[in-house]
Amino acid sequence: MRVLSGIQPSGRLHIGNFFGAMRQHLKLQAEHDCFYFIADYHALTSNPKPEDVAQHTLDVTMDYLALGLDTKKTVFWRQSDVPEVLELAWLLSCVTPKGLLERCTSYKDKVAQGLSANHGLFAYPVLQAADILIYKSDLVPVGADQKQHIEVTRDIAIRFNNTYGEIFTIPKDYILESVAVVPGIDGRKMSKSYNNTIGIFEPEKAAKKKIMSIVTDSTPVEEPKNPNKCNVFALLKLVASAEELAEWEGRYRNGGMGYGEVKKRLVELIMEYFQPYRQKRTELENNVDYVREVLADGAERAKAVAVKILEQARQAAGLGR
Ligand code: ADP
Ligand code: TRP
Repeated sequence: MRVLSGIQPSGRLHIGNFFGAMRQHLKLQAEHDCFYFIADYHALTSNPKPEDVAQHTLDVTMDYLALGLDTKKTVFWRQSDVPEVLELAWLLSCVTPKGLLERCTSYKDKVAQGLSANHGLFAYPVLQAADILIYKSDLVPVGADQKQHIEVTRDIAIRFNNTYGEIFTIPKDYILESVAVVPGIDGRKMSKSYNNTIGIFEPEKAAKKKIMSIVTDSTPVEEPKNPNKCNVFALLKLVASAEELAEWEGRYRNGGMGYGEVKKRLVELIMEYFQPYRQKRTELENNVDYVREVLADGAERAKAVAVKILEQARQAAGLGR
């Protein structure tokens, strides 16, 4: 089964990204033919600084590689290295009703958040459809916020096939919901836009400062506490063993435990959890040429698939005959 997903290059990844998406992407490698790419064309829709696009692309690549993305098995590339996808996006645009895009909530949400209402942002789901269809993807693992884009992809693929013949595989979504939303240090969803994140490879001192400042209630030390309403416990669940978690749960409920104590342990556990990957991350940082080679090799393998499907779609639409 071909599994495909795109990751926006939005800077150093945080533990919400890891437990909410990356961990599942990495796990899927064992059983499937995975295609993962850094969606740098999509990133342009929010008008980032050029130097940020470049640096963030490298950062996300290094994060994935350090955490175990296996480039022998998985095809991993930078979206803009296979520009064929843009031509397919045009072919798809011409069978996409404007109303279908007008119904997409992410455009409206992003404009409401202050992004410029540019055409790229509006047409974003068509490019995403091209990403998915040009690689004949069966399954697309994404967060719940992307479900509508996969439905749009299916709709566009069906319209194209009905118009020109059976060219595209109709993909399915695969909603990643194995973990609840990871809270940030202020208790809202951990997100780079809220500035409340704990980075995967955050240096210990900085991580400690953030974790010690996680928002908790003001129950006095001696009183019992509810672990299920605590942001620290929600993070502890991700990194502690079952036995240790049960022990902490007892200590919350019995009273006599201060939040400072459990926060200190959380710092240690987060550091231990990502420790095995830190050295690899540092090695990659010191060998950026290798990182670029990995992306170039991935692009070559991705392109080999993309050109074939694109040619079929072009021919079907009457181009280049
Ligand atoms: P951010 O909110 O920091 O901008 P993105 O929207 O780029 O993160 O998310 C990239 C992936 O990580 C998505 O699949 C998303 O579902 C997942 N993700 C991001 N933040 C969290 C979180 N706090 N909890 C669980 N998953 C998350
Ligand atoms: N829109 C996705 C996001 O913001 C990223 C993305 C681009 C993507 N193209 C894709 C995801 C194709 C899955 C398949 O997270």
